[in-house]
Amino acid sequence: MRKKVTVVGAGNVGANCALRIADQELADVVLVDVVEGIPQGKALDILQSGPIQGYDVQITGANNYEPTAHSDIVVITAGFPRKPGMSRDDLLLANYEVVRTATEQAVKYSPNAILILVTNPLDAMCWTAYQVSKFSKNRVIGMAGVLDTARYRTFVAQELGVSMENVSAMVLGGHGDTMVPLVRLTSVSGIPLTELLDQASIDRLVQRTRDGGAEIVRYLKTGSAYYAPSAATVEMVESILKDKKKVLPCSALLEGEYGINGLFVGVPVKLGANGIEKIYELKLTDDEKAQLERSAAAVKELVDVIQQKAGA
Ligand code: APR
Repeated sequence: MRKKVTVVGAGNVGANCALRIADQELADVVLVDVVEGIPQGKALDILQSGPIQGYDVQITGANNYEPTAHSDIVVITAGFPRKPGMSRDDLLLANYEVVRTATEQAVKYSPNAILILVTNPLDAMCWTAYQVSKFSKNRVIGMAGVLDTARYRTFVAQELGVSMENVSAMVLGGHGDTMVPLVRLTSVSGIPLTELLDQASIDRLVQRTRDGGAEIVRYLKTGSAYYAPSAATVEMVESILKDKKKVLPCSALLEGEYGINGLFVGVPVKLGANGIEKIYELKLTDDEKAQLERSAAAVKELVDVIQQKAGA
């Protein structure tokens, strides 16, 4: 039987996820959005690329969740961008409401699905979906680390003038200014990065990675990145649907790993047919550990706001 993926939010990230899933012929796709006509129109447009691109998958658009029934994966990209005058907390609470209702509806129709969260602030939205869905922790996963790592790999490859494919790296932590690129474990075809670049250059690339999302927002002005975010999401979708067991940095519920409890934070995981099949607990240096703790504290602050103001 064909696999089925629901993508909630037919905006820039959601529509590009649908397009990439279709292009790779991974599954039938249902695009859901609150705006009438947008998911239907974009679904039809993507479907009509099929004869040219050579894919045979069904793409459907909807404003309700009935057509999403029995999805294998539900990707949640729905949300609001930050508007002028909106505080971070306002945005947090607005997107909390969106993710809460989307999760409620999606899991009602697909109780066995795996949830992939993309909406920001990512780690707090994973926590929301986990609370609302009551799914086991292996079935609630956040997309952030794959994107942050891709940005870091791009900058390293550009700096050295080498193939991006040769750069192997891992960015841990929450999706935000406090993310933790593991420089010590970054290599180019096995050669440690520290043997190829001086510390000042490495620091510059790490900082550019941390600011990677903001750099694009500065150019776009009215929106945030979506090509690389959708590519990162679909790498996770593929690893799950094909049971590839890729080891990728994803936001996962930690229950004591890395000394963190009850929070979603980016860590290396094995992604297969059962979602998160293993969390890898690396031996970190004291400095890396301190950075990860700082990042987890930033995630906790957001979860605390949700608990206090939304009574979750
Ligand atoms: N249910 C379904 N869709 C919704 C809902 C809802 N309750 N609320 C809003 N949406 C839809 C909007 O109508 C819009 O089409 O979510 C879509 C969001 O699309 P964009 O504004 O284009 O945002 P996008 O760039 O796709 O980013 C989505 O992903 O990377 C993150 O930070 C980003 O949180 C943001 C999310």
